[in-house]
Amino acid sequence: MNELFEEQFRFNLESSPNWEQGAAHREMITGYLIGMAGEKRGRLCILGAGNCNDLNLKRLLHAFSEIHLVDIDEVALEYAVQSQSLENESSIFLHKSDLTGVGQQLAAWGAKDSSADSNLTEIISQLSKPAKLNLPGSFDVICSTCLLSQLVHLAVKAVGDTHSRFEELMIAIRYQHVQTMIDLIGEEGAGLLVSDFVSSASAPDLLQIPDDQFEQYLSQLLSSRNFFHGVHPGVLLSLLVGNAPLANQVRDVEMLRPWRWNLGSRQYAIAAIQFYSLKRD
Ligand SMILES: C[S@@+](CC[C@H](N)C(=O)[O-])C[C@H]1O[C@@H](n2cnc3c(N)ncnc32)[C@H](O)[C@@H]1O
Repeated sequence: MNELFEEQFRFNLESSPNWEQGAAHREMITGYLIGMAGEKRGRLCILGAGNCNDLNLKRLLHAFSEIHLVDIDEVALEYAVQSQSLENESSIFLHKSDLTGVGQQLAAWGAKDSSADSNLTEIISQLSKPAKLNLPGSFDVICSTCLLSQLVHLAVKAVGDTHSRFEELMIAIRYQHVQTMIDLIGEEGAGLLVSDFVSSASAPDLLQIPDDQFEQYLSQLLSSRNFFHGVHPGVLLSLLVGNAPLANQVRDVEMLRPWRWNLGSRQYAIAAIQFYSLKRD
């Protein structure tokens, strides 16, 4: 049993009845993805799809010929298609997969005492390579939906954010994830990296703050270092622009306007970065 994954399964079970409250967040992501689909009705892949409360799959089926949903939690994926009455839809494909490839090692490391330091070296080295995902080919649009904070959370739970190598591990997870997205995009395809980066647990005014003050409020939170580990939107953007190693694989990188995600008991601020692949055959 993987304790780290079990926790994710519990989060998914608890948040599954969140369809109603998540409407505005779902509209944002679904709308951006439809805009990115273009004329072609290509193939869409969602990383961290979970319960898909953040995707209107029926609307997306008009814009894409195939939708591939990837997550470690196959129960959540099955719930996702059933709850949107799409369990018999032949254009939707469910893939159970650990997008880091190191989930088992991280859980094993977390379960042992911290003397197992050499394993951490191995885990970090494995993260410098793409995870073996066994997904069918490349995609026209790839979207990571509020997954990155959870990938970093796996490291927080396993190793602890005070460990001397936590930062190194977190940076490796983040870099691998963005590289995975780019690798999965086909010729002329597009990517949308959506990440929650702070919640009302540490920013209680998140829901009440008026729309016209929202961005300024978020800047203040970021300046006071009130955000989840590893997902500062500016740092995510910096991975894809300028002289960053990944920047020469993408074009037209754009930070979209932030929005709020209401998850019932908690609210989150969301950042999203859209980009296009430079791959040409
Ligand atoms: C915050 S949820 C995403 C929300 C989801 N799209 C929804 O609306 O229900 C993050 C998702 O990431 C998945 N996840 C966490 N670690 C993962 C990993 N290593 N590989 C693949 N998926 C993972 C969780 O199972 C969960 O479904």
